[in-house]
Amino acid sequence: MNKIVINALDRKSVINKNIYGHFSEHLGRCIYNGIFVGENSDIPNTKGMRNDVVSALKNINIPVLRWPGGCFADEYHWKDGIGAKESRKKMINTHWGGVVEDNSFGTHEFMELCSQLGCEPYINGNVGSGSVQEMSEWVEYLTFDGTSPMAALRETNGKKDAWKVKYWGVGNESWGCGGNMRPEFYADLYRQFQTYLRNYGDNQIFRIACGPNSDDYNWTDKLMQIAGTYTDAITLHYYTVPHNWPKKGSATDFTAEEYYTTLAKSMKMDEIISNHVQIMNKYDPSHRVGLIVDEWGTWYDVEPGTNPGFLYQQNTMRDAMVAAATLNIFNQHSDRVIMANLAQTVNVLQSVILTEADKMVLTPTYHVFDLYKGHHDATLLYSYVENETVGTEEFSCPKLHCTASQADDGSILVTASNFSLDSDAPVSCKLEGVNLGNITARILAGSAQDYNTFEDPNKVQIVDFTAIEKEGDTLSFTLPPCSVIAITVKG
Ligand code: AHR
Repeated sequence: MNKIVINALDRKSVINKNIYGHFSEHLGRCIYNGIFVGENSDIPNTKGMRNDVVSALKNINIPVLRWPGGCFADEYHWKDGIGAKESRKKMINTHWGGVVEDNSFGTHEFMELCSQLGCEPYINGNVGSGSVQEMSEWVEYLTFDGTSPMAALRETNGKKDAWKVKYWGVGNESWGCGGNMRPEFYADLYRQFQTYLRNYGDNQIFRIACGPNSDDYNWTDKLMQIAGTYTDAITLHYYTVPHNWPKKGSATDFTAEEYYTTLAKSMKMDEIISNHVQIMNKYDPSHRVGLIVDEWGTWYDVEPGTNPGFLYQQNTMRDAMVAAATLNIFNQHSDRVIMANLAQTVNVLQSVILTEADKMVLTPTYHVFDLYKGHHDATLLYSYVENETVGTEEFSCPKLHCTASQADDGSILVTASNFSLDSDAPVSCKLEGVNLGNITARILAGSAQDYNTFEDPNKVQIVDFTAIEKEGDTLSFTLPPCSVIAITVKG
């Protein structure tokens, strides 16, 4: 019997809903075809945005969307993407697949998308090949209400009133595709760029500096030392790759060993965050500066026969397990981790949605975001798991993994996963300080290699789960192998 103990009287940090954020780059079929098809498309759309995709994303209460990249961000010049569509510049997307970028999706379209989704925009500015003036004018174009050259340009393009844009990233992966900089150089550049990101009216900018790749602790140290007092948050990128880069492995055809390796590698996120947080604590003991994991997820070989530059991969129950584990880790670190953005929303890497022409499927990862949506802005509760381990000698992970939180209305959400490939997990879950009133549960379960296709879109889906026994303050249930459950307890 595996044991979970939750203490509702031991309340921790608030789980910022932005931890459940997403990331959409001009890469492959993420923006074009995946989200944006243009107003003249036969695919049902509203102002060019696919209705099916917008409605699916709204169902998981997408809180924030990062755009336009990724590596694309440091090659993107925002003025190419405004004004009459026919006269927008056509260019080659040199980073991703060498295809023509016609700039038909630009600033106005992104803001329209966020308004349809009801989510916060998070714009990543160009440091690598851009200028201070360019980024500063983008802020002015979007957020200045009054007499100014950029406000006038915006009005010419059909938008009189300014938008609100809180989240601004200053460069992406400046240690790599964003300019191959050293941390000292970037930190100084960051200080310069952020000076000219002005707060206009009541639009208060939340400044985000480019943080480290994975376990590059030196980057965090230098960045915090030189620029920590000038930023509201720093970013972290960490991808789960089952093998040693550049060998990645298939998204759908994998062994038990590869399954456990993938999970164990995804759970390294915990150690990596803890170590970066320790460094941040040295320079920022009051936790003023947030950590934003604005790129995370699995990265496999592209699907056979697809453009290698498009990063299109399928998504199985293995990915659902990675999502469950990673989101639990973010929840547990929610005193510092204030946002995270899964890479990438549609048709790229660990997507929540796949599309093909007018068809759409929701991936197993999507369903995890659905099961976890009750954690948005809820208060993390203390939880303890008496556990076994599963996996191989080199790559092992806990069998059971969970988060418990309490929403403002008093209801408690417990999400728990059984990471074993082949054995049930009988669980006793004790909830201290809770009146166990009405209990409902939903579960996602399957074989690790199960996935949804356009022919069989509901092979993996959430179903109701009623096999829960209640005795005193304890719930008992059995989690099948490779599953994630969401139990809601109302007092
Ligand atoms: O998400 C794909 C790419 O991965 C992004 O463009 C880049 O930031 C990262 O290396």
